[in-house]
Amino acid sequence: MTEQERWDRYYRRSRCTDAETMELDGWPTDVTSVLDIGCGTGALVRSWAARGVAATGLDVSREALVQAARLTAPAVAPYCRWVQADWYRADEVAAHITGTFDLVVSMMGPDFSTGDALERLLTYCKRYGRLLLFVGGDNEVAVAVARELSLPQEAVRTTLEMTAKQLRQRGMIPTVRHVDESVVLSRSVPQWVSYLERIFPSAEPSALTASVQRLADTQPTLHGRTTVTYAWVEWEMP
Ligand SMILES: C[S@@+](CC[C@H](N)C(=O)[O-])C[C@H]1O[C@@H](n2cnc3c(N)ncnc32)[C@H](O)[C@@H]1O
Repeated sequence: MTEQERWDRYYRRSRCTDAETMELDGWPTDVTSVLDIGCGTGALVRSWAARGVAATGLDVSREALVQAARLTAPAVAPYCRWVQADWYRADEVAAHITGTFDLVVSMMGPDFSTGDALERLLTYCKRYGRLLLFVGGDNEVAVAVARELSLPQEAVRTTLEMTAKQLRQRGMIPTVRHVDESVVLSRSVPQWVSYLERIFPSAEPSALTASVQRLADTQPTLHGRTTVTYAWVEWEMP
């Protein structure tokens, strides 16, 4: 399954119906153009667009972008541009994205610690760069299912150090800000299975379903606490 198919399937299953936006307090204010790489259903793009900023959301998933466009109010839509492309494919990106953006951001988007993904990002970045990276975390349901099915708990590769090092090697001075989150997720069995398929890509979906069903024990909704640490990596172009 390709990256696009995997994410399309994810967005089809967890269809977003909420036109979410984000608080932009603390973000640079002198910004006229933004590129969000791996924008998903577009919350950040819509937030910048609502300020009259030309906001481009790029994602490998066509399904995510269809939902993003559908969730965007007509008044904001003229400021939004949605681009379907795989950031790892230089040709695909170059075919759609030209020039530079005041701010280039990615929140849990593609991995920028390997290959030329970060180099490419920097070529489009005029002033500010921001990456939200996953540092580590645990989910009660994922831990229970992994234990029951003896699934290898995939080593969470910390990309933070590698990304920050690459930025420094290219003359940036990144700052790193950690953010901790702890939430109880309440999901149906199919939603948990979709979530777990992403964490355990090698597991049999039928085994995951059976395991989650056992945990849910006839309840329509299963609750599981998730604790996650993220890091914001921020820099200004020299
Ligand atoms: C964890 S989601 C985050 C979505 C959104 N940024 C958010 O914060 O809600 C990761 C997103 O990155 C996209 N993505 C993953 N690999 C990608 C790639 N190689 N090129 C472009 N987008 C990618 C996925 O389709 C997905 O929408």
